[in-house]
Formats: sequence, structure tokens, C-alpha cells
Amino acid sequence: RLVYVLNGPNLNLLGKRQPHIYGHETLADVERDCRGLADELGLSLRFHQSNREYEIIDWIHEARETAAAIVINPAAFTHTSVAILDALNAFDGLIFEVHISNVHRREAFRHHSYVSGVAAGVIAGFGTLGYQLALRRVAQLLEG
Ligand code: DQA
Repeated sequence: RLVYVLNGPNLNLLGKRQPHIYGHETLADVERDCRGLADELGLSLRFHQSNREYEIIDWIHEARETAAAIVINPAAFTHTSVAILDALNAFDGLIFEVHISNVHRREAFRHHSYVSGVAAGVIAGFGTLGYQLALRRVAQLLEG
């Protein structure tokens, strides 16, 4: 079973950017851990990051043809992007939303997510472990 793990803008700077909020792990570390877990769970993985909204939309469209699930950290697009919401609405598989930080204890503009309404589940504030929890849940639901 194929799972897309999609990451939005500025997450390429993970580990360097505001480490007091996002921690010291890099996105390469997250990808490595996700790949290790996916192997264990029998999932195939496409792992992507982009600072461009259209690229994330294109990957969601690509996932429509091939993937059973999308795990997405839309980063700042979470709070702004109707276009990503519309793309996710056109995807029939499982969707999980991940945020490294606890967006609910941060600025008010981070409290609303366009994506949460189409997600089967939302994880926020578990650091990069959130990605692994989402993958475990995907595997559990695909098995059941
Ligand atoms: C984030 C939270 C967003 O509000 C922020 O814009 C990000 C990262 C997180 O993972 O905690 O870039 O999605």
C-alpha cells in the first residue's frame, strides 16, 4: 500500500528554523524514520516537501491515482489554502494532518485549519513523532 507524506513551506529548514518550537531533527531525519517505519509496517512511501502550493496540489492529484493514504503537514498553507483543501477533497483515500508544534497554544491565526475538516485525524504537538503515529494509524486502518 502506497502512502504519500507531504510537507509544506519552510519545512526544508526543519532543525535550523526556530528549534525551540520545531526541535533539532531535520526533514531528512524525519524521512529516514518514516521510511524505516514504513518498511516495518509494509507500506510504500513517497516523501515530498515543497515551498510551492501548486506542487503540493500536483502531488495530491498524483496520489489520487495510486495511493491509499496521505499524511500531510501543510505548514503555513494549513491556515490559508482553500486550494489544498479542494485537492484533498478530490482524494478518496485516508488523510491525516500532522503538525510538529501544538498549533493551538500558538498565535490565533494558527488555530484554524482548512485541512482538518477532511482529515480522519489530526496530530499536533507531538514533535516529529506525529508522522510516525500517523503512519501507524494508516497501517492499522488499511489492515482492518
Ligand atoms: C506547522 C505549524 C504551522 O502553523 C506552521 O506554519 C508551520 C509548521 C507545524 O508542523 O507545527 O510551518 O505545520
